Amino acid sequence: MIGRNPFVLAGQEWKEKRSQITPAFSNNRLRACFPLVEEVLTRFTKYIKNEHEKDKKAPLELREICARYTTDVVSSCVFNADAQSFTKENSEIRAMGKKFVEALSSFGLVQFLLTSLFPGIQKLLKMRIMDKKSEDFFINLMLQAVKLRESSKIQRDDYLSFLIELRKKKSISDIEMAAHGVTFFSDGFETSSIGISHILYELAGSKNSQQKLRKEINEMIIDENGKIVYENMLENEYLNQVFYEALRLHQPLGIYNRECTEAINLDCGNGKVFKIEKGMGINIPIHCFHRDPENYTNPNEFIPERFDPENGGIKAFQDRGVLAPFGDGQRICLGKRFAQIQVKAAIVDIIRNFELSINEKTQRPLTIEPNHLLNVKVGGLWINVKPLK
Ligand code: HEM
Repeated sequence: MIGRNPFVLAGQEWKEKRSQITPAFSNNRLRACFPLVEEVLTRFTKYIKNEHEKDKKAPLELREICARYTTDVVSSCVFNADAQSFTKENSEIRAMGKKFVEALSSFGLVQFLLTSLFPGIQKLLKMRIMDKKSEDFFINLMLQAVKLRESSKIQRDDYLSFLIELRKKKSISDIEMAAHGVTFFSDGFETSSIGISHILYELAGSKNSQQKLRKEINEMIIDENGKIVYENMLENEYLNQVFYEALRLHQPLGIYNRECTEAINLDCGNGKVFKIEKGMGINIPIHCFHRDPENYTNPNEFIPERFDPENGGIKAFQDRGVLAPFGDGQRICLGKRFAQIQVKAAIVDIIRNFELSINEKTQRPLTIEPNHLLNVKVGGLWINVKPLK
């Protein structure tokens, strides 16, 4: 998303960059990140327990605490740095992340609309969402992380080592390497924290789903030493259903865009045909597909069981193109698997440690902030927590 971001490239140039960076998200590398995620989880649950101890009646705002969690996870996995979002009042990395998100609520929205109408404009005008100061901050952080890794004896098959290797092979420059890291941070922390906060919110509002999931977690995901079994977490059917059902209702990015590369006549039914010209910008409003009663019965309700395997499971809806919180096709979210790890791990740890309910401070029915690019709710998502023994 930023000015020097390699992912804003289009066409062949973009295709090459994307294929170059895709192995960074291989199963082995993602697995290697998990101990870092677990470390942050410990701080996350400790923070919630402490807040509850301070004032047992005070509600918690989900978006803020989830953003602290994802900031710490992504910083740790990409920059090898502890962002200290839970322990330091003015964490520098968290402050920079906040600044970046604020930009998405003003200029970012205008930029999104402009680039979807005129796909070439971003490159032409060298548009950036992240301001120069924040961009320099993250690029320096990335370069420092590389220096530290190279001078230490730490051997870890993670994202950072992948970028260092890529630079050694001279496939990318210093700045490109840093830009990849910054992209990972900017695309990875806010989308996931919005995802986690809505999943927890829906569980807080559905006692049955919450209890059912807690049972699954305790019986199928946690081992006898109280640790999360990584493979079981990723493969658990009910957790996946909860994950997709909440993201169906509240996909962090409601619209994605494409540029038409070949003119086509689109059959709109009832004899109507719409011609899409080559070069035309297309907005795909996935949130409309997600809430269409033709696709889902009771589309506004949170019903993870609609994805039960006997109904065809999640795949049946994905195959029909009506479930795509991560986008679809050649430009599907590159961080989808990483997102599943950091989001599911947080859900598992919170649900096994706390009972959640919705606090009346939440403005219901929920409404989306009209001037924000991402799916952020007016007034925030407030919950009550009760620690479980
Ligand atoms: C719940 C969390 C997330 C959601 C819902 C999400 C959703 C999306 C969506 C809808 C797109 C556009 C896809 C399309 O146009 O077809 C996208 C693109 C992208 N996402 Fe994610 N994302 C999430 C987390 C992440 C994470 C954690 C990372 C990085 C670690 C990431 C990196 C990217 C990148 C790099 C792209 C651009 C891909 C390209 O244009 O080729 N995302 N994401």
